[in-house]
Amino acid sequence: MQRLALEWRRERGPTVVVPTMGYLHEGHQSLVRRARKKAGEAGKVVVTIFVNRTQFGPGEDYRRYPRDERRDLRLCRECGADVVFLPDDAEMYDAQRGSEFSSYVEETALARGMEADSRPMHFKGVATVVAKLFNIVMPDIAVFGAKDFQQAAVIRRMARDLNFPVKIDVAPTVREADGLAMSSRNAYLTPDERAQATVLIRALGLARDAIRRTESTIAASRLKQRVAKLVSSEPFARLDYVEFFDPDTLKPIRQVGKGAQMALAVFFGKTRLIDNGKV
Ligand code: PAJ
Repeated sequence: MQRLALEWRRERGPTVVVPTMGYLHEGHQSLVRRARKKAGEAGKVVVTIFVNRTQFGPGEDYRRYPRDERRDLRLCRECGADVVFLPDDAEMYDAQRGSEFSSYVEETALARGMEADSRPMHFKGVATVVAKLFNIVMPDIAVFGAKDFQQAAVIRRMARDLNFPVKIDVAPTVREADGLAMSSRNAYLTPDERAQATVLIRALGLARDAIRRTESTIAASRLKQRVAKLVSSEPFARLDYVEFFDPDTLKPIRQVGKGAQMALAVFFGKTRLIDNGKV
């Protein structure tokens, strides 16, 4: 991969990478199409597919994470990818010149609260694998999805702090017709759970409507209570967290007004779904 990337450096046009864990859906495809536009005719689009063990906690779904390599390759081709990079676990972590893998990247300001509270080692695994992928692919631009808002913020900070010469581009969330954010994990949902999963987008709508209806601000605690009540009205749903925060610093906001960002995570059985948006 690095040999290819260095060859491309000598040619014209940017190299644009789309890191994924595969089992691609329309959300991923929109990132690849966006990457194709940014790369242009002369540039190159690289999709990486790697289910990254180090970002899964104990008891999470690493083993059962859905995979479909053949379909993924077809979708990548259809969306205009030039190369798909699919390393295996040993290549990325174990076979480092025969010795154990022992170096990690940790962002320490934005990788706090929300996802980090629920999944303590998650962003360390994400930052480490993305740093590795940046070093391997040597992209000029990397495209991430707004669906994972905190992840995109952590990666942007990591790239800035560690001087990766990579522009981080964040693309909008792609949704199903009923508003559910597309996710590889939606495949885990039973029909009943799938029907109730629209509670995430309804929760965002509830907060947005409340803020639009008031001239001033609303206490975050009050909005959180209303969201909790809405989520608990769905028998299969269990609220993990809901937070209102500053979209740049990711710091929680006590009095919520227009421009604040909201994020939530909801469990359906073992399946954990996330969503976020501006209120
Ligand atoms: P994965 O969950 O496969 O997502 C890959 C990329 O697709 C991420 O940037 C994510 O934000 C984006 N994405 C997922 N669903 C989306 C949707 N509905 N609309 C728009 N974009 C969407 O995120 C990861 O993998 C991993 O943590 C990774 C960054 C690859 C590191 O392992």
